[in-house]
Amino acid sequence: MRIETERLLLRTLDEGDIDALVGLWTDPQVTAFLGGPRNPEELRRSFCEDLRGQAPHPHDLWPVVEKSSGDVVGHCGLLAKEVDGLPEVELVYILAASAWGKGYATEIGRALMQFAFEEMGLTRLICLIMPGNEASGRVAARLGMRSEGLTARPGNRMLRVYAISSALMAMDCLEERAAGGDRGSFERAMARIRDTEPDV
Ligand SMILES: CC(C)(COP(=O)(O)OP(=O)(O)OC[C@H]1O[C@@H](n2cnc3c(N)ncnc32)[C@H](O)[C@@H]1OP(=O)(O)O)[C@@H](O)C(=O)NCCC(=O)NCCS
Repeated sequence: MRIETERLLLRTLDEGDIDALVGLWTDPQVTAFLGGPRNPEELRRSFCEDLRGQAPHPHDLWPVVEKSSGDVVGHCGLLAKEVDGLPEVELVYILAASAWGKGYATEIGRALMQFAFEEMGLTRLICLIMPGNEASGRVAARLGMRSEGLTARPGNRMLRVYAISSALMAMDCLEERAAGGDRGSFERAMARIRDTEPDV
């Protein structure tokens, strides 16, 4: 797994990433809207298991490296989940507090969205966001996602569902093109939709 953007690199887990990822998942500020800090020993054990397995799995979280510093600043990716009885794929973005406010979540989110639609052939992505997580809601909106209301998750947690389909993304690309933006992104999105339309 490898997705490179202008400032970030999302890649397969390496042994040297574990300390940074444990730091991320044990930080009360980072996990405030994610169920709180996790147990560091359990985290280390599960990351080591991941390392030993290394089986490439299409729905997972991966370390995100800041290219300028070489630091692991995030854990982002795609998770398969059942939501309201339907199979969904959730786009997840989690960054170290030191990396907030630089547009990184939007940058890696956009690249993951492109990967999901173009490489994996998915037609829909969602974000599940705890009410009050304003930053995460802003990122979802910036990615072109629309709010679909609330869903009850295990433990009676109510989370807000944001979603985007590949068709909606194509419309955004059309608007971008009308505004003089990248023509290629629109053409790619339309080709993708044509490919997925059934023959009638
Ligand atoms: C949510 C998170 C990923 C945002 O990352 P980020 O790289 O700082 O986001 P961006 O820089 O791309 O900013 C996106 C928008 O959020 C806004 N924002 C950032 N922090 C904010 C905050 N604390 N409150 C309100 N808005 C905030 C930015 O101003 C920007 O808004 P704009 O579109 O109006 O310019 C980051 O705060 C984080 O990792 N939080 C902890 C983990 C988490 O909750 N993840 C979400 C899981 S659902």
